[in-house]
Amino acid sequence: MQQNERINFGSKLGAILAAAGSAVGLGNVWRFPYETGNHGGAAFILIYLGCIFLFGLPIMISEFVIGRRSKASTGKAYQVLAPRTPWKWVGYMGVLTGFLILGYYAVVAGWTLEYVVQAAMGNFFGKEAADFIAMFSDFSQDPLRPLLWLFVFVLTTHFVIVKGVKEGIERSSKVMMPILFVLVLLLAVCSVMLPGAGEGVEFLLKPDFSKVTSDVFLGAMGQAFFSMSLGMGCLSTYASYFGKDTRLGATAMSVGVIDTLIAILAGLIIFPAAFSVGIQPDAGPSLIFITLPNVFQQAFGGWPVLAYICAVAFYVLLAMAALTSTISLHEVPTAFLHEQFGFTRGKAARIVTVGVLGVGIVSSLALGDWSGYTVCGKNFFDALDFLTAKIMLPLGGMFGAVFVGWKLDRRLLHDEVTNCGRLRAPYYPLFVLILRYLCPVGIALIFINELGGF
Ligand code: PHE
Repeated sequence: MQQNERINFGSKLGAILAAAGSAVGLGNVWRFPYETGNHGGAAFILIYLGCIFLFGLPIMISEFVIGRRSKASTGKAYQVLAPRTPWKWVGYMGVLTGFLILGYYAVVAGWTLEYVVQAAMGNFFGKEAADFIAMFSDFSQDPLRPLLWLFVFVLTTHFVIVKGVKEGIERSSKVMMPILFVLVLLLAVCSVMLPGAGEGVEFLLKPDFSKVTSDVFLGAMGQAFFSMSLGMGCLSTYASYFGKDTRLGATAMSVGVIDTLIAILAGLIIFPAAFSVGIQPDAGPSLIFITLPNVFQQAFGGWPVLAYICAVAFYVLLAMAALTSTISLHEVPTAFLHEQFGFTRGKAARIVTVGVLGVGIVSSLALGDWSGYTVCGKNFFDALDFLTAKIMLPLGGMFGAVFVGWKLDRRLLHDEVTNCGRLRAPYYPLFVLILRYLCPVGIALIFINELGGF
């Protein structure tokens, strides 16, 4: 695709929804609750919110600037904006990060499909918490079923990617996002009303700072980057399809608010329900798959039809939210291969899909038969999650902030943020200050703290 015929998102709303579609996904509903559970609850959430505002929003705007200005995917964007400099490696790192995340993310996305089927077959009825725990562990340790769903999910993503940007991404996001939001809200209300739910609400809202360790900071920062799809050029690749009227600051704010709201609501679904049925909040990656079926059972116990509909609808929407994220992850390496090496989009997508399936198979087996093989004490799945979410994304975000704050021409930056002076952007001086100083120093301090530097 030549730069001057680059496809654009059809409308400003389309741009917001596509970016929100990338941001909202398993990161909010699956990863946020289990990270919150592992890191002790409310104090983690406060630090997470701090990371969203101090790092997330400014870095999101800077990624938008990089993408829209260069009109190139992240792998090429740095070469366009800073030709013949080592900055291109930041772009390459983003491509690799996206590829690796997709490898294990697609495994969990596949699990959602298994649960669509379980819900549709009415298999949640008459079961208790212990049965759901057994159900999940039987499934995740089965050598074949998770792989089957992994294939289905990755191939679906492939199909949308090959169909192209506007139709595939924009249209699907427009329909699914609002429905997901309403259902999550409804379920949160139901969950909070379960017997014994109060303890869960307290876990979520009443901070206990004695539980804050260096790990909590690293976890919260990683989660902020992961959830907002930042640090790997995913949103900058989407921004390369933004029109010249898209308001970068307002779009970042909308995406940030939607993403955070859905994460908090997911927490409000999971924790009250987990405490209500006696499931430990630090159950890890299986948390939502063992907790949620209880919510449908208990909250709608008297109305089996409603329980059935809500359960099926929820997993279908979760799978769709995961799909809008896997599409955005797949797009980064695909667009890179297409632009860098001149492959057709179809060929680029095929190469990525085959590679992702390879990483996915290893990640999936790491939770079953291959759990004995470890890297630094973690199985391959957890190691990949740690490496990408807690190290590569924050590093990518930090370099992106330094690039836009220090290297990019100041006039050009101002033009992008204000749409060539047509918008007022009173936050601009603060934004530049945060990018130049707070982001790099803050992120570096969190890394040093984790390494035991303080
Ligand atoms: N933000 C997505 C989610 O919350 C995951 C993701 C991470 C997507 C990084 C793109 C890039 O599910």
